[in-house]
Amino acid sequence: MGNPLFAKKPLSLLLEEMKGENRLRRVLGPVTLTSLGVGAIIGTGIFVLTGVGAHDKAGPALILSFAASGVACIFAALCYAEFASMAPVAGSAYTYAYATLGELFAWIIGWDLVLEYAVGSATVAHGWSAHFQDFLRSFGLSIPRGLSAAPFDFNLETGHFLMTGAYFDLPAIVITAIITAILVKGIKESASFNAGMVIVKLVIVLFVIGVGAFLVDPKNWEPFAPYGYTGISFFGHTLFGQTGANGAPLGMLAGAAIIFFAYIGFDSVSTHAEEARLPKRDVPIGIIASLIICTVLYIAVSAIVTGMVRYDHIDINAPVAQAFASKGMPWAQRLIDVGAVTGITSVLLVMMLSQPRVLLAMARDGMVPPSFFGAVHPKFRTPWKSTILTGCFVGTMATLLPLRILAELTNIGTLLAFVIVCTAVLIMRRTHPDAERPFRAPWVPFVPIAGIVCCLVLMFSLPAENWWRLIVWLGIGFAIYFGYSRRHSVMARLRAEGKIPG
Ligand code: ALA
Repeated sequence: MGNPLFAKKPLSLLLEEMKGENRLRRVLGPVTLTSLGVGAIIGTGIFVLTGVGAHDKAGPALILSFAASGVACIFAALCYAEFASMAPVAGSAYTYAYATLGELFAWIIGWDLVLEYAVGSATVAHGWSAHFQDFLRSFGLSIPRGLSAAPFDFNLETGHFLMTGAYFDLPAIVITAIITAILVKGIKESASFNAGMVIVKLVIVLFVIGVGAFLVDPKNWEPFAPYGYTGISFFGHTLFGQTGANGAPLGMLAGAAIIFFAYIGFDSVSTHAEEARLPKRDVPIGIIASLIICTVLYIAVSAIVTGMVRYDHIDINAPVAQAFASKGMPWAQRLIDVGAVTGITSVLLVMMLSQPRVLLAMARDGMVPPSFFGAVHPKFRTPWKSTILTGCFVGTMATLLPLRILAELTNIGTLLAFVIVCTAVLIMRRTHPDAERPFRAPWVPFVPIAGIVCCLVLMFSLPAENWWRLIVWLGIGFAIYFGYSRRHSVMARLRAEGKIPG
């Protein structure tokens, strides 16, 4: 027997557990799953980060940034889909890593997914609050300053923190609490609530494309790539492209690394595998369909926004709405504001739905205390305790930390998760060549290797301090793993019972 740190959970045990009692309800079909995917994808990224991406990082070449980030995600999505069809249980990348790379990697990815889902939710709640307040302002209303924002922010020019003068972000807490309550009540209700919001935001995005197309001035696309086509650094040293005032890389790829946030969410479809009626067919459909729909829409929206307004005049906080305001169309601006608030709400819903399900899978394996994280509500059949804990975590982060830091931390954490999933597909093809794969990623090993390379490039296109934050986060995770999970895990128990050699 090898090192217990790399003990792998057998695929057969995984499938055996699926037959147990404490399961979630199977109510989701392919359309609902795709809609959950789109619900998780279109939000703060397109409505907010498009501004930073075009203005500060890429110029009109942001259109290519969206294409580049979309391609990286498609490689990763094909790998996610293969795994989701093989092991359709809640837990997503965490579960796949346990079966292929072993316990320590499973823990790393489970811990890393907290960055994606919980810290990502905090980022999104922040974006929600900003748009909600913008909307109120368009009617001459406002929230008292002390309750309107996080107490400090990051100054991109100086690289230092500055005080905002506010105490905390009240709207971010309120929306987090409302979503938490909805999620405790149940997945079916959450899914239909989500479907309504997805329709609203799709209509708004199509409106932006359809009406905006008549307002484009092609002169605004020149120069197309004012910061160049690259933007890669290695721990603070720019390797390719220009360097910004604070040492961060600039260029098309640097833009891709920021707006990568806009694509996060397609993978959350795989965390609902356990609630899908036909998981082996429908989960891959949900992942890939939602990603393709969003890639096409994003490329179109970024072309419209950069074509309507010169890149250095694009608004950083509400780029899409302001593009229409600048054309003397305040009604369109308000309409887009409503779409943004609605769209961001559905992202928050899906991301906060995913986090407790990953924790549930980890609890079943004894990686986190099962009495708390594994508790499924007797009536609602939802992981209610960890849903409430997730809500408290998200509310606290969103209300106290600035948007930019939360977004970048989410990106680097998610990219790491994608790298591990692509690696796991490669390993699984070697170790379990004959396992049933209802969906097979095409062109293996090209697709997983391309996924790994693309995601690493994007990780190195983020400002360097994110690597340090990621390392600190993983350090805290190791402390928990070696302090608790290692001794309580399902594999440790099986070893102690003599069921597997140890
Ligand atoms: N992709 C999601 C968004 O843009 C996280 O809000």
